[in-house]
Order: sequence, then C-alpha cells, then structure tokens
Amino acid sequence: MLRLATKTNAFKNPRTMAAFGGSLRLYSSLPLSQTITLPSGQSYEQPTGLFINGEFVKSLQHKTFEVINPSTEEEICHVYEARKDDVDLAVDAAHKAFHSEWSQCDPAVRGKYLLDLADLMEANKDTLSAIESMDNGKALPMAQGDVGLVINYLRYCAGWADKLSGKLIDTGSNYFNYIKREPIGVCGQIIPWNFPLLMWSWKIGPALAAGNTVVLKTAESTPLSALYAAKLAQEVGIPKGVINIVSGFGKITGEAISTHPKIKKVAFTGSTATGKHIMKAAADSNLKKVTLELGGKSPNIVFNDADVKKAVQNLIVGIFYNSGEVCCAGSRVFIQEGIYDEVLEEFKTAAEHLKVGNPFEEGVFQGAQTSQQQLTKILGYVDAGKQEGATLVTGGERLGTKGYFVKPTIFSDVKPEMKIYSEEIFGPFAVVTKFKTADEVIELANDSEYGLAAGIHTKSLDTATYVANKLEAGTVWINTYNDFHPAMPFGGFKQSGIGREMGEQAFENYTQWKAVRIGINNGPQ
Ligand code: NAI
Ligand code: MG
Repeated sequence: MLRLATKTNAFKNPRTMAAFGGSLRLYSSLPLSQTITLPSGQSYEQPTGLFINGEFVKSLQHKTFEVINPSTEEEICHVYEARKDDVDLAVDAAHKAFHSEWSQCDPAVRGKYLLDLADLMEANKDTLSAIESMDNGKALPMAQGDVGLVINYLRYCAGWADKLSGKLIDTGSNYFNYIKREPIGVCGQIIPWNFPLLMWSWKIGPALAAGNTVVLKTAESTPLSALYAAKLAQEVGIPKGVINIVSGFGKITGEAISTHPKIKKVAFTGSTATGKHIMKAAADSNLKKVTLELGGKSPNIVFNDADVKKAVQNLIVGIFYNSGEVCCAGSRVFIQEGIYDEVLEEFKTAAEHLKVGNPFEEGVFQGAQTSQQQLTKILGYVDAGKQEGATLVTGGERLGTKGYFVKPTIFSDVKPEMKIYSEEIFGPFAVVTKFKTADEVIELANDSEYGLAAGIHTKSLDTATYVANKLEAGTVWINTYNDFHPAMPFGGFKQSGIGREMGEQAFENYTQWKAVRIGINNGPQ
C-alpha cells in the first residue's frame, strides 16, 4: 500500500502533519499518476495532479500533500496542492468553457455527457468504491452504496438538463413576454470528507446540467475519488474546462475560491463555522450567490407505539451509518417513557453487535473515522459526557491502537444543558433522552441551532403528521432514516444551511431567471 514517489519518514506520520497544523508541504516533482494497490489487492492508476482545463497538471509551485489511509494511519500517496495561482488558472479555464459551447448548446447534449459519465462510473464502480473506502475509512458496503447514489444522481440530473424550461407570460396583446432560466457562470464548490464522491456528484451534477462550469475543491483528507472521477469525465469527453478539480486546504485553496472575483456562485458543504466564513468572503468579494449545506444535531424520536425492531434499526442506521460522519445523523435520540427501557436495551445490544474495523473485511459495518482530528474530537466529547454526568451505556473508547476506530457509543440520561446534547460531534455517538408527550419532544427537538433532519417512529399517522408538521427540519423521515432519493430535496432550516440540493430544487441554485418583455403595441404598419 505504501508506494510513493516522494516521502520522508517525518512526513509519513499523520501526527507529525498534525503537529505542524497540517500545513506542512513538500516541494517535489511527483509524477502525475501513481499505481496504487488497494487493500482488496487490485491495483489502479491514481491521478495525483490538479485537473485543470481537461488535463492533469502539476501545481505551479509543485507543492504536494500527503494522503492518509485512516484505517492504517499509513500514507497512500501524495497529491498536488492548488494555491491561489492554480485556482486562477482553473477559473480562467472554467470561464472560457462557460462562454464557449457549454452554456449555449442544446441542453440535451449536456445531459448526454452526464449519462455517459454515469455509465463509465458504473463500469468502474468497484474501483471507485474501494478508493473511497481506503481514503475515507468508511466500510466498503457504505462506499458501494455511495457510488450507487452517485450514478443515480448523475442520471437524474441528466434527465433535468433539457427540462429546465422557461415560460411565456401573458400580460395582454401589446406585449410578448417570456422568462427563461440561464446558468450562473463559473461555480466554486467546496466539499467535505465524509462523502467525498457523493458530494462531488451533488455539486457537479446540477451545475453541469444547467450549463455552468465548475472549480471544485475536495477536502484535504479525501482528495482521491474526485480525481479518479475527473479522469472518467475526461474519458467521456466532457469539454475542457467544464470541470476543474483543485485539491488543497481550506484556508488557502478554499479561500481563493470563496474570494475569487470571477466565480459567480459558491456552494459549500461542511461545518457551520466555515459556512459562515465562506458567506462573508463571498459577500465581501463580489457578492457571489451562496448555498450552504451545514451541520446538524438531528432528533430521532421513538414513540410508545413504534415497531421496536424497526425503530432500533433506524436508530442504528441514524447514528452509526458512515461511522456517524453524517451531517443529518440522528445524533439526539428521544424515547418515550413507556418504551424507554426496552428500546434503550435493544439499541445498546444492537450497537454492541455492530462489527467495527477494517473497512474491507467482510461484515464490517463501521470503519475508521476519517482523521486523527475527528478521533480526538469524539473522544473529547466522551470525556465531556462523563464529566457532565450523563450515563455511558456502551462504547466511549477507541478500538485498537492503529487506525482511527471508535466503538459505537451511546450516552443516556442526557440533559439539554449538556454539551454532548447540543454540539455536533460527527461520530458514532448517540445521546439519549426520555420524554413524556409529543408536545414536549417537539420542543426538545426544536431546541437546537440546527435544523437539518429529523426522524419519527410511530404507527400512528396522526402522531407522525402532527409531529412532522411542527419539527424545524429540512427533511423529516418517518419510520425510516438516512434514506435519500435524488428526487427529494435536501438541506437545512436554521443554521443547517441555505438552499437545497437534489430534487428539482437543486436547479434553483444553479440557474437565474431572465425576464424578456417585448413591446408589440403598434400592430401591422
Ligand atoms: P470544514 O467545514 O472546515 O471543512 C469542510 C471543507 O471546507 C473542506 O474542504 C475544507 O478544506 C474547507 N474549508 C475549511 N476552511 C475553509 C475556508 N476558510 N475557506 C474555504 N474553505 C474552507 O470542516 P472540518 O474542519 O473538516 O471538520 C470540522 C467539523 O465540521 C466536523 O467535526 C463536523 O462537525 C463538521 N463537518 C460537517 C460536515 C457536514 O456535512 N455537515 C462535513 C464536514 C465537517
Ligand atoms: Mg484520507
């Protein structure tokens, strides 16, 4: 697994990197691709360059950074790091591509490119899933699920490409009016590390279908799958400059995107704190349009009349799916008093039966956390929970000494004033609170700065709809959880975000309306 063009022992260890604030960079002439052997034994060619104007290129300053496998803490490879001057080149390429055929062609042509890309991704789905698992640490079946969603979503976007129509507006016989949707231009897109490829598709799919071009920055801990996907985009012939991928760090590459004067829109997924920062930078530079998909502390509510087995499955999927690194994770669990002991016991038992470990091992449900930073953060919250007087039901510790694995963790007797109740932890960490009535749980659930998602488990349609109508959340799942569909919009109320991804609504963020009013009041001359 360790086969590198450039490496020194000092740079091999992620802790060394962390000690330097993750800002240490190498000056090298790393090749533009590298043969990597996946944990499954299969080898593949990993692009390492920046993807600018349809080609993989070295960064201008030849800086690179290290990519870590969080399950082994070993280096996978280095990739080139984009800085401001590289972002400028990427924006120029995207700008040129936007003003050429891409924004002007028959939209069905763009749809066909997306369909071709989806087909090629399908043909490469095993490689893509394995790359994702290796780089992010998620269990292989989760990565396979992600890749399936990516393919479906690109096809969904392709279907919309030629249906983003305008309309004719009748204001009387003296005028002919029409309104039409136009693309925005070069879009900057900044994505996180929890679903690297899925977020790639949520950003690129609607942007391209609507005729925009993109400069996308991956997260520094998971740059690999996006580069591989860019290679597939190159193979299907997506015109040069339409997609540009710049690997790099938030404060440098991300900042260059959010402040860039030629970028007309920025779409971001990540923490609320960074989202606020990006919004300010977007406003101060050139008032970019902004969409944000941010954090959450989503309630997952079990009522007395719920089907216990199904509800517990949904609690498990809610918080332990993708190692809990999910913006809409059902991290605050509320159980009604009549069923509390039974559900908590079953939840504990189920959590303890989850297989945690090597993402490539058969039967593993929960892989590694993506970075040392996340591991440390989660363990810090375990200490906080204990200090604040919550009861540790299960887990609460690291698993093993190599790789960033955390045992599925549940705290009960959690009170609203505790840190673990209100702050986003972003790990396999559920906090459980007892409630008596629907109105009480609605108040508890809404007592959060976030409003991304919520879950309700009940057999009563009355309870389900009463509670769903009152919850402040962009998505409400009833008797299911973490259950996505390309046609269903996703995004946050309150500080969980602005705008929607997926569904028809995603295209609102990537188009702008033009109103054309023609005076025809003179009749025949
Ligand atoms: P982050 O929000 O700082 O990072 C996400 C992306 O933003 C990365 O690509 C990063 O490079 C970029 N970024 C960081 N600073 C930037 C800046 N100043 N300008 C432009 N781009 C910038 O999140 P981070 O530090 O990786 O994780 C911290 C916490 O954020 C997590 O523990 C979790 O609670 C939350 N988070 C939430 C996510 C979600 O999907 N809602 C995803 C990732 C993190
Ligand atoms: Mg990694």
